Amino acid sequence: MKVTMDKLVALCKSRGFIFAGSDIYGGFANTWDYGPVGVELYNNIKKAWWQKFVTESENNFGLDCAILMNPKVWEASGHLAGFSDPLMDCRACKSRCRADDLVEAYAAKHKMTVPVASMDNDALSAFVAEHKLPCPVCGKSDFTPVKKFNLMFKTFQGVTEDSVSTCYLRPETAQGIFVNFKNVTRSARARVPFGICQIGKSFRNEITPGNFIFRLREFEQMEMEFFCKPDTDLEWFEYWKNYCFEFLQKLGIKKENLRIRDHDKAELSFYSKATSDFEYLFPFGWGELWGIADRTDYDLKKHAEFSGEKLDYTDPVTGETYVPYVVEPSLGTGRALLAVLCDAYDEEQLEKETRTVMRFAPAIAPYKAAVLPLQKALSERADHLYRAMRKRGITCTYDLPGSIGKRYRRQDEIGTPFCITVDFDTEPTGTVTVRERDSMSQIRIDESKVADYIIDNCKLD
Ligand code: GAP
Repeated sequence: MKVTMDKLVALCKSRGFIFAGSDIYGGFANTWDYGPVGVELYNNIKKAWWQKFVTESENNFGLDCAILMNPKVWEASGHLAGFSDPLMDCRACKSRCRADDLVEAYAAKHKMTVPVASMDNDALSAFVAEHKLPCPVCGKSDFTPVKKFNLMFKTFQGVTEDSVSTCYLRPETAQGIFVNFKNVTRSARARVPFGICQIGKSFRNEITPGNFIFRLREFEQMEMEFFCKPDTDLEWFEYWKNYCFEFLQKLGIKKENLRIRDHDKAELSFYSKATSDFEYLFPFGWGELWGIADRTDYDLKKHAEFSGEKLDYTDPVTGETYVPYVVEPSLGTGRALLAVLCDAYDEEQLEKETRTVMRFAPAIAPYKAAVLPLQKALSERADHLYRAMRKRGITCTYDLPGSIGKRYRRQDEIGTPFCITVDFDTEPTGTVTVRERDSMSQIRIDESKVADYIIDNCKLD
C-alpha cells in the first residue's frame, strides 16, 4: 500500500522516529530531530552503507573530514562561483521560489518539452513572463527577474566578522575526500582503483526546502569517491550503479518504486561525463534519491592547480603517471531513510482490527527484538534475558504493561522483527516464544539459543 505523507509524519512523531526540531519553541522551519527509534534506524542505514562500501569493499577506505575547510577549497571546486539556484521573489507576497522548479512544473502540466537544465537566468525570466506563471503561494504573476542565489552557508571563524575570517559550512562531503587524496594514498598505500568513503553533515541554504525530511538545509550524505584509471571510468560507473541498486534493495526499498534517470547532455555538469539519478516514488511523486556521477579528473586537477600540490598517481607496476578519474555515488542518509519508511509502512486487515506494521528489513530495524513477559510474575526471568541480549550487542526493547496483543501491535508500529515472550512454559521447559512480525507466526526456542537466533536472522546479506 502507498502511505500518505500525513500518515507517515504522524506515525513518526507518535512512535518516536522523527520530531519537529525545537518543538517546545514552536519548531524551527524545516529542521527535524530523530527520536529514540528513528536514530536507531538512521544509524543502522549508515552502518549498512559503511559495511557494504567500506568493510566489504576491500579496495575502499574510510575518512572523516572537518566540516569547516579552507575557503580556497570552495574556490577550487567551483562552489563559490557556481553553486547556486535560480531565485525569483514574488513582488506581491514576498515569497521566494526556484524559477527552474516552477518552469519544470508548468512544462510537465502542459506537456511541453522545455530544456530547463540548460536555460540561463534570462531565458527562465522570459519563460516566466511569457507564460504568466503564477506564484505558488499567492497566485499572482509578478516576479522579480531571476538571479543566482549561492546555496553555501557563510559563517565566520574566530572573533572578528571580517572577510579574512569568512568560511563556509561544506555543501558536500566530497571535497574533503579530494583534499585528502594524497594523504590517503600515501598513508594507506592505496592502489588505483580504490575508493574513499565518508559519512557526514552537509549544509545548503535551499530556497525551497520541504517535503518533511526530503529537502533540508542541514542533512547528512554518504559519499564515495572512487579513483580509477582514465578510460576505465565508464566501466566503473556501470559497476557502482549496479552495486548501488542492489544496496537499496538490501535496505528494503522496493524495485518497483525505483527508476534510474540518466542525465542528458544539456543537464550534465560541465565536468561530468555521465550522471544517473536513482529516483524513488515518494508519496509526493518521483524524487532524486541517489546521484551517481562520473566526475572525470576535474576535482583533483582543480585542487592541484589551486593548492600547488601534485595530485597525480604513479602506478607502482607500470610506472605510468596520471590524474585518476572519479566515479561518485552520493546518497543522502535522510532521503534513504524516508524511502525506507515509505516502503516499510503497511496496514493489514485482520479479523477484528487493522494493524499498522513497519516491515523494515530486519538488518536495519530500530530494535531487533522486544522481550515481553506474559505476566508481571515472569518479569524477573524476562529481565534477565533482556539484559543478556543487550550484552550480546542486540538492540532490543522491553515491554510489560498491557495485553500481549496490544504489546505486539506497539512493536509492529516500530517495525520490531521479533517479539520474545517469556510465558508459563518457560520455567519448566527453558524455552520462549518467538513471534515473527510479518507472518505473525510463532515458534518455541530454547532460551539459551534465542540471542543467536536473532543475530542470525537480522544480518545484512
Ligand atoms: N557530491 C555530490 C553531491 O552532493 P548532489 O546530487 O547535490 O551531489 C547528492 O547530492 C545526494 O545528497 C542527493 O541525491 C540527495 O540524496 C542528498 N541531498 C542533496 N541535497 C539535499 C538536501 N537539501 N536535503 C537532503 N538531502 C539532500
